[in-house]
Amino acid sequence: MSSEGVRFEASEEFARRMDAEDPLRHFRDEFLFPLHHGEQSIYLVGNSLGLQPRKAKPYVVEALEDWEKLGVEGHFAARHSWMPYHELLTEQTARLVGAQPLEVVVMNTLSVNLHLMMVSFYQPTRERSKILMEAGAFPSDQYAVASQVRFHGYSPERDILRLTPRSGEETLRTEDILETIERHGREIALVMLGNVNYLTGQAFDMAAITRAAHRHGCRVGFDLAHGAGNLLLSLHDTGPDFAVWCSYKYLNGGPGTLGGVFVHERHARNNALPRFEGWWGHNKQTRFQMGPDFDSIPGAEGWQLSNPPIFQMAALRASMELFDRATMPALRRKSDLLTGYLEFLLDRLPPGFVRIITPRDPKQRGAHLSLRFSKEPRKLLEKLTAQGVVCDFRSPDIIRAAPAPLYNSFLDVYRFAGVLEGHARD
Ligand SMILES: Cc1ncc(COP(=O)(O)O)c(C=O)c1O
Repeated sequence: MSSEGVRFEASEEFARRMDAEDPLRHFRDEFLFPLHHGEQSIYLVGNSLGLQPRKAKPYVVEALEDWEKLGVEGHFAARHSWMPYHELLTEQTARLVGAQPLEVVVMNTLSVNLHLMMVSFYQPTRERSKILMEAGAFPSDQYAVASQVRFHGYSPERDILRLTPRSGEETLRTEDILETIERHGREIALVMLGNVNYLTGQAFDMAAITRAAHRHGCRVGFDLAHGAGNLLLSLHDTGPDFAVWCSYKYLNGGPGTLGGVFVHERHARNNALPRFEGWWGHNKQTRFQMGPDFDSIPGAEGWQLSNPPIFQMAALRASMELFDRATMPALRRKSDLLTGYLEFLLDRLPPGFVRIITPRDPKQRGAHLSLRFSKEPRKLLEKLTAQGVVCDFRSPDIIRAAPAPLYNSFLDVYRFAGVLEGHARD
């Protein structure tokens, strides 16, 4: 078996050789791993909460010290002044998701941003009232979508179209998504999909979906919670109207930290769009004149409501600098190999022990593999945890394992498979 022309081998020596040849191997040292009996744990939940970058603490401490010494003057006189602090993340975020700087902003959290985007991009009419989403979308997205539909006086039962896999299949077929858009396009106000499904790990063809939806006059938005920092994205060229994501998974920004928003350039100066407004979205030159009328900053920044939380942004800066140094194309290359290696080793475990439900095609997935085991998954997870392996469980019966290319090694993957092999045989 091979991935990208590499012939995988099921041996520790091979895993170590892959690590020695990995051009990104030094990034592992930039992160703090939870310890298990004094050793780094095998941390495979970067798809849930990424690890702490070493520089997160000094960056947060810098902001705390500036606050201590400067008080309110820190807005202008801090080492990184707080007034334009969020702009420190703009260029890096734009590179991360393949956008223009004008198109991105870091603010709020994912579900909040999804609501803000739907305020602007879900404008149902009697003829075009529906939202197309995955039946298996993350629950918060389902609640957000249903409540928006109700807010406009429509009915979630009638106005949410839910994509389900064919009977006997675990994941959606692109052709079925496109066919649904062809069939219902004229009734759909908004196509709102993930780009990597949280449960199955399936990645969707964002470009084909966006093209089809726009051809039918629908608006398109993506939830990139499991895609940002994982997949190679080119949001500007792909062309959805908006995208939202969180920064605590692959982006290692820390628990509950800020989300990101993309609004396509075509909407940058469209003041006819409905939106919820706040003072941080107001023209920076006149913000402090404190006038009563809102004058939007062009682009995604215009959707900001509040002045941003500096400590959270400080921690996120530490990780975004690493992404910028590593670059997404290089991370994606390594990720394909790491996850391909995990797949290769899982396929060698005793028959019937584990089934991979994530698509086998590397183009239809990111880092994570979703696994169904013949043994009771919660008990298995407990045993793995006791052995220093950190994965996660998602109801009803899935264990997810995500080698994150910024800090996981081929040896992590090899050791994980070794621990599983022990359980396959007991
Ligand atoms: C796909 C997806 N959407 C939405 C959310 C909710 O994110 P938040 O709690 O930041 O609003 C998550 C959280 O894990 C998620 O995985």
